[in-house]
Amino acid sequence: MKLSIPCAAGLEASVKRQLNRLGYGDCPAHNGRIALEGGWEDVARLNVFLRSGERVLVVLGEFPAPTFDALFEGVRSLPWEEFFTLHTRILMDGKSTRSALAAVKAAGGVAKKAIVERLREKLGARSLDERGERAIVGISIADDLAEITLDTSGEGLHKRGYRTLGYDAPLKETVAAAMIESSVYSAGKPFADLFCGSGTLPIEAALYALKIAPGGNRGFDFTKWKCAPDVLPAAREEAADLRDRTTKLILDASDLSEKAINIARYHAKRAGVEEHIRFSVADMRRFHSEERYGVIISNPPYGERLGKGEDLFSLYRDFARVYRSLPDWSCYFLSAYPEAERAFGRKADKRRKLTNANLSCGLYGYLGRKPEKTHPELL
Ligand SMILES: C[S@@+](CC[C@H](N)C(=O)[O-])C[C@H]1O[C@@H](n2cnc3c(N)ncnc32)[C@H](O)[C@@H]1O
Repeated sequence: MKLSIPCAAGLEASVKRQLNRLGYGDCPAHNGRIALEGGWEDVARLNVFLRSGERVLVVLGEFPAPTFDALFEGVRSLPWEEFFTLHTRILMDGKSTRSALAAVKAAGGVAKKAIVERLREKLGARSLDERGERAIVGISIADDLAEITLDTSGEGLHKRGYRTLGYDAPLKETVAAAMIESSVYSAGKPFADLFCGSGTLPIEAALYALKIAPGGNRGFDFTKWKCAPDVLPAAREEAADLRDRTTKLILDASDLSEKAINIARYHAKRAGVEEHIRFSVADMRRFHSEERYGVIISNPPYGERLGKGEDLFSLYRDFARVYRSLPDWSCYFLSAYPEAERAFGRKADKRRKLTNANLSCGLYGYLGRKPEKTHPELL
């Protein structure tokens, strides 16, 4: 089958690296999607293991669709009866760019009609009851070319299941995982998030360092489809085998808000990594560490209300001062504040654009001194 992994803008390289590590070679990326070939076993593995992909889609067909008639015929020609029953609850999702069929809702309606007609004909039924399992069909039209997909994940893969409570401007788990994965952090190095909010970054750091599969405990739509063999247990077993159960991490997570820390601790417990994270209510200005070669990975405020008399520029300036007191640490932060780098007072060694919650953000990376040979475990 042809598979496609959509991801947030700027995360393509991270998803490609993750795929490579899972044994899928160098997969091409195009328009925010990474393409690869695979069977149902791969669908299960990708859903369970990918940290920064948004969904795993099966590509059912691609054809020119400059008119509604062409879209209808193209969709009707696909073998829906191999995937769906008369009870499948078919939901349509669509987008269109640079195409004559710009009305996405209307295109979805036409495509659904074509699927229903095909199923009625092939399954010999007068109507569908749609009271069964959910299946999300994607209609993506670009330059008059339609791509029809089936969403095997259902809920987006950022929904790991541990984050159930909200706090100010939480970071998407898939973005947090990409920040960790593209940093110099690895198990055994000191880690600190000085603005941890609901805990996403330290929790994703723990999952990554302990090799805990992010999707190991959640469900996926494809497991309820008649066409998919029972492949999830094997992927879950692989995840359980790979998990590091012996390493003890020390991750520091702090925030000015007590409420945020309570929420973060609760989420860490749900994720099964609470014992690896030291939570504290603290102003980031008070952070210091005697540890060497650590990594700060944070998502400082970038616009929400700050305390009385605080302004963003001085917050970032003070953050930089804290970082300067840790000469061999590295520091990465994600921010939508346009003055972030200037306020930090130093050009970043690495810089990347990412999208979080529909906001264009910069990911800034500052590299600390490399460990000497006396600390081989940190090299
Ligand atoms: C953008 S949010 C972080 C969101 C977090 N990454 C998450 O996923 O939930 C910024 C956080 O910085 C905290 N904060 C603001 N000023 C601070 C300060 N001076 N020291 C420590 N934390 C601060 C806020 O309470 C807020 O939780």
